[in-house]
Amino acid sequence: MNRNTTTLAPLLLLLAASLAASASAAEPAPSVERGKTLYLTAGCKHCHGTVGQGSAAGRRLAPKPLPAAAITQFLRANGTNMPAYSEALLNDAAVADIAAYLGSIPPAVPADSIPALRNLTKQGK
Ligand code: HEC
Repeated sequence: MNRNTTTLAPLLLLLAASLAASASAAEPAPSVERGKTLYLTAGCKHCHGTVGQGSAAGRRLAPKPLPAAAITQFLRANGTNMPAYSEALLNDAAVADIAAYLGSIPPAVPADSIPALRNLTKQGK
C-alpha cells in the first residue's frame, strides 16, 4: 500500500458506513406489523378478506402472495376491476409493508384437522 491509500482507507470506510446508514434510514425494511395495520385500514380487507382469503368482491391474495413489485404495479394500474391506489394514497414503502404482511400469512389448516369439520367431510364421502 502506498502512503495515499493508507491515509485514505479510514476515510473511505467512514464514507461507506455513513452511506449504508443513510440508505437504510431512507428505506426501512418492510414491516409485517405496519403492513397489517395498513392492510386493515386502507380498504383491502373489505374486498380481499382480513387475512387475504378473498371474497366475492376480490380474489385471494394470501398465502403465497404476488411479489411486492407486482402488487405495487397492480395497485397503481387503472382499468382493472379494482380501484387504483396512487402513490399519494399508499406509497411504495407502504405497499412493501402490505406485501410483507400478506407474505406472513400461513396457509389455512386442512379441513380434516378440525374435528367438527372432519366429521362433515367424512359424511360427504
Ligand atoms: C373495492 C374492492 C377492492 C379493494 C378495496 C381492494 N381490492 Fe384488490 N382487487 C379487487 C378486485 C375486484 C381485483 C381483481 C381485479 C382485476 O383482475 O381486474 C383485485 C385484485 C388485486 C390484486 C391482483 C391479484 C391477482 O392475483 O391478480 C392485488 C395484488 C390486490 N387486489 C391487492 C389489493 C390491496 C393490497 C388492496 C388494499 C390496498 C386492495 N387490493 C383493495 C378488489 C379490491
